[in-house]
Amino acid sequence: MHARIAGVGGHLPGTPVSNDDLVRRGVDTTDAWIAARTGIRARHLAAPGDTASSLALEASRRALEAAGIKAAELDLIIVATTTPDVIFPSTACLLQGRLGNVGAMAFDVQAVCSGFLTALAIAGNFIRAGSHRKALVVGAEVFSRLLDWQDRATCVLFGDGAGAVVLEAADSPGILAAAAHADGSQHGILCVPGQISGGRVGGDPFLRMDGRAVFRFAVRVLADVANECCAAAGVPVSAIDWLIPHQANIRIIAATAEKLGLPMDKVVVTVDHHGNTSAASVPLALDAAVRDGRVRRGQKILLEGVGAGVAWGAVLLQF
Ligand SMILES: CC(C)(COP(=O)(O)OP(=O)(O)OC[C@H]1O[C@@H](n2cnc3c(N)ncnc32)[C@H](O)[C@@H]1OP(=O)(O)O)[C@@H](O)C(=O)NCCC(=O)NCCS
Repeated sequence: MHARIAGVGGHLPGTPVSNDDLVRRGVDTTDAWIAARTGIRARHLAAPGDTASSLALEASRRALEAAGIKAAELDLIIVATTTPDVIFPSTACLLQGRLGNVGAMAFDVQAVCSGFLTALAIAGNFIRAGSHRKALVVGAEVFSRLLDWQDRATCVLFGDGAGAVVLEAADSPGILAAAAHADGSQHGILCVPGQISGGRVGGDPFLRMDGRAVFRFAVRVLADVANECCAAAGVPVSAIDWLIPHQANIRIIAATAEKLGLPMDKVVVTVDHHGNTSAASVPLALDAAVRDGRVRRGQKILLEGVGAGVAWGAVLLQF
């Protein structure tokens, strides 16, 4: 039994907010600084009424339509998110209710920017084990809600969005290999340290980051986990048709591709359009490349990502 992607969908809320728009909104920055350091040109910001589940709903509808599968047929729904609608129930259950599905197993994965890869690996294992046949795997984030707009070193980097895939049991591949790791000793380099307790937010509720430490860590582990995943599947890195990395920073993406010996024309880059959308970034980039015809059936695709935890992972699949 294989677990194969049957359809992909994405959703970005509202209209793009350019780097110059941020300057007009009072952020002490420039388009030149942001573009040179990160490759980001624009991001999408959720409207006040948007939530992770409302963005997830749009992406999921598109993925289900592309797969030709009805929401009622799903027997597994996993949402990767760090910005759930509420503390509980899970965003996956809220999405399930919005989709009108009753009965599927539904739960969230919290692995921040590598959450979609973790969720995809989990869904793939359920399908290959034979317990489930049709899974919806979503990365959905309203990261703008965690941003300190006075902290120019972080607020320019992130955006909101959702991406989804429908994964189904199939006779042919499919997910070929998955790898995931974490190093909790590095939890302080990227975090939102606040907590809710006694009816109040305690501590600092905003995203905090040691950008240089994250950068160094990311480049090291992304190349390693890509090699690990390819070795596990017996697929040489040179045989990959597309590398679809977490869309955080073009310099991290380019440095990883260089370490892997992959030319940039084999790398899908969408970070310029939507910035870092955390768990949504990999499925959003996959969706863009499927819809514009770059990613085609039968091709070998390596998805990978890294983020807070620090947690990182990769999934190699035949599309
Ligand atoms: C965040 C990042 C772009 C910062 O780049 P950097 O080269 O490390 O820059 P620094 O933080 O050292 O700051 C350099 C200067 O730019 C300034 N600066 C920071 N943010 C700025 C902004 N938005 N606009 C203009 N200047 C800015 C700093 O104040 C500093 O000025 P100083 O030299 O006068 O003190 C880079 O570290 C990075 O991309 N890290 C990875 C982040 C990431 O992807 N995180 C998510 C992973 S899931």
